[in-house]
Amino acid sequence: MDKIHINGGRPLEGTVQISGAKNAALPILAATLLVPGLHSLNNVPDLRDTRTMLKLLETLGATHSRKGTTVYVDTSGLTGAEAPYDLVKTMRASVLVLGPLLARSGYARVSLPGGCAIGARPINYHLKGFEQLGVKTTLTHGYVEARCVTELAGATVYFDMPTVTGTENLLMASVLARGTTIIKNAAREPEVGNLIDMLIAMGADIKGKGSDRLTINGVGSLQPVEIDIIPDRIETGTYLIAVAATGGKVRIEQCNPAHLPALTEKLRAVGAEIVEESNAFVVSCPEQQGRSRCNLQGVDIKTMVYPGFPTDLQAQFMALLIQAHGTSIVHETIFENRFMHVAEMQRLGADITIDGASAVVRGLPPEKLCGAPVMATDLRASASLVIAGLAASGLTEISRIYHLERGYENMVEKLQALGADIRRVS
Ligand code: EPU
Repeated sequence: MDKIHINGGRPLEGTVQISGAKNAALPILAATLLVPGLHSLNNVPDLRDTRTMLKLLETLGATHSRKGTTVYVDTSGLTGAEAPYDLVKTMRASVLVLGPLLARSGYARVSLPGGCAIGARPINYHLKGFEQLGVKTTLTHGYVEARCVTELAGATVYFDMPTVTGTENLLMASVLARGTTIIKNAAREPEVGNLIDMLIAMGADIKGKGSDRLTINGVGSLQPVEIDIIPDRIETGTYLIAVAATGGKVRIEQCNPAHLPALTEKLRAVGAEIVEESNAFVVSCPEQQGRSRCNLQGVDIKTMVYPGFPTDLQAQFMALLIQAHGTSIVHETIFENRFMHVAEMQRLGADITIDGASAVVRGLPPEKLCGAPVMATDLRASASLVIAGLAASGLTEISRIYHLERGYENMVEKLQALGADIRRVS
């Protein structure tokens, strides 16, 4: 199995380009199922997860091709309505086909995703929402079967907690429903906004983009579209944190600084210098230069729904805090089991204690952090171990790197171009 080897302790320098957002591409690929025809999606990252979603669309009867970063999906002749266990178990976002399949053909059968490394992650809010639109759902043999009793009819759906894929599923189910659907306490993440832009371009009538209350007036028909996927804010944030953790100066291009308000605030508090342009960041960390006199300051973070601090950057930020002065508290409020990286960071010498949903991080001087063999447990934990390995001295060997390939396009190559001593070994 492939591994990543990192010889840490080098500052990052140069320019890096950000890819399209995985978590925007996945619902947008699913939304092509809504209407027969040829859709053009620009800036689609070539990742394990986007390939899994394309495979799923293929099992449903769609065809696709890729030219550069543009993916063409032809959904003219759907032949199936089932997301099988083998695909759902590798990618939970497969549940995103439920909404569009219900809207297009009134029936879908999708394997129920089990728990995963970061928590139980049920889909009860999705199913409750569908039921309010007139769908009957049953669970048999590990599969959710969803069937429209008559036609989909608009309703008011309230989520107990904002759910990103739940909001996306309900949006896709309701755009062709009869009457008006109101989603209250909807997720406000930019990826939801990207899907709304696509649905509006298809002909849907949706109001409230960017707010927690979405109003969808059902329309009679939609047409295929061309749409641009937004830049990946989590990939962007991962590089911002990596530069702060290693020192150096990097220009991060093809990104949207407006999508990372909480992270930039916290990075500045730690000691990083950040210049924001309309679609680029320039980040440097003078406090890290010379590394023997690391002057990064610890800060507390609490993960929240957008625009709060993203849970998908919590592990990476912790890789920065392990070498900052003082004690920092990292409080995770979205997922109940998102500290799997802690035990691996401890192998590098990090001083972290977990107390329920909080981790207490006591920063150490960089020379006390030294490379070690570690194991990736999920996508963002893997990225945090890459950052920790870049910051620690000596060799860090990361195994189970397939997690990383689910969500970061060419990460090893991008970091090599910034001067990191990182390579993939078989
Ligand atoms: N929840 C429920 N019931 C539901 C839905 C959600 O209890 O029916 C709970 C979850 O267990 C969690 C919280 O609500 O505690 C929020 O979960 P959400 O539904 O928002 O998460 P998601 O839609 O499954 C997306 C991203 C995740 C990201 C979260 C939070 C995609 C494909 N996935 O997941 O991305 O962490 O939102 O922002 O958009 C990643 O990219 O590494 C990743 C895990």
